[in-house]
Amino acid sequence: MLDTPARIYYKYEGASPAGSHKLNTAIPQAYYNKQAGIKRLATETGAGQWGTALALAANFFGLKCTVYMVKVSYQQKPYRRSLMQVFGAEVYASPTDKTEAGRAVLAKDPDSPGSLGIAISEAVEDAVKHPDTSYALGSVLNHVVLHQTIIGLEAMKQLEKAGHYPDTVIACSGGGSNFCGIALPFVRDKIREGKRTRIVAVEPTACPSLTKGKFTYDFGDEAHLTPRMMMYTLGSDFVPPGIHAGGLRYHGASPIESQLLHDGLIEAKAYGQLAVFEAAVMFARAEGIVPAPESAHAIRAAIDEAMAAREAGEKRTILFNLSGHGFLDLGAYDAYLAGELQDSSLDDAALAEILAKLS
Ligand SMILES: Cc1ncc(COP(=O)(O)O)c(C=O)c1O
Repeated sequence: MLDTPARIYYKYEGASPAGSHKLNTAIPQAYYNKQAGIKRLATETGAGQWGTALALAANFFGLKCTVYMVKVSYQQKPYRRSLMQVFGAEVYASPTDKTEAGRAVLAKDPDSPGSLGIAISEAVEDAVKHPDTSYALGSVLNHVVLHQTIIGLEAMKQLEKAGHYPDTVIACSGGGSNFCGIALPFVRDKIREGKRTRIVAVEPTACPSLTKGKFTYDFGDEAHLTPRMMMYTLGSDFVPPGIHAGGLRYHGASPIESQLLHDGLIEAKAYGQLAVFEAAVMFARAEGIVPAPESAHAIRAAIDEAMAAREAGEKRTILFNLSGHGFLDLGAYDAYLAGELQDSSLDDAALAEILAKLS
């Protein structure tokens, strides 16, 4: 389809029962909480993939699970909610009136579409107020990133069997867990063995924390209940527009990923959702897999790299992570095919205001 001399490999995480890479960390987190005598897990979810994975993992170990789902995604993806409920979780559209954090947001904006930062505040508050409950996070933190490195380690072994090593590694980035998962083993080779692999994180122009944010200490949530982390951020009160890649609507990024970007070991780029859905549909038609809108950001970048290889006549090897399937995102595909989707990006004035608040 691309008529490119580049080889394109992808690691497919959507074959997991939960539909994405998120089960790689949901299972160990549920296991360790069970060992510690915890009875219930509270969490947030954007697109619903993390909530689905944690609901399933909690169910495997006989734990209860409460999910605060970002309201705009709750409305856009009703079947994600159904799936979490099938796996035994209770699911609320965040901001809720069940927590102080949620009530404070609703008092300011009763129509708030929610954000991951707000939903995290609600889930953390729920856990703090109930001693039998732990909070579980599906991205950003070091232990999550560590669990996800199984993606890159496996990909490396699989490529070794094929006799290849990638010159470019690509993944989408919300909080950074699937990106770090595929990238960190290759970063290790860059540092230890002097490999010159290009490693690219891809985010939406609507929520450009890596490409336009500031590298500073910030909170992981809206109500400032988490510790502060050194990361690229747009500010913990940033509420991104309701794009369909709900899992990428996070104001910050993993501290490990942020440090690597700051040190120039990885790169970041951003795309609008129209270019992303165009790539998603091309991929579906070529490969027969409907990708999650989040994962389609990586596909867009991989296609662009392959086209550049065609222009340059280079036989490159590109690896990207296909972090999840989009079978429960068909509403978004409907909107794209009907021409109803719009691009949105942070304008200069809004960005200047954000950066001024952060300095
Ligand atoms: C399929 C998929 N990919 C990517 C992400 C983004 O998360 P992360 O950056 O932690 O991989 C999500 C989050 O919900 C997701 O569902």
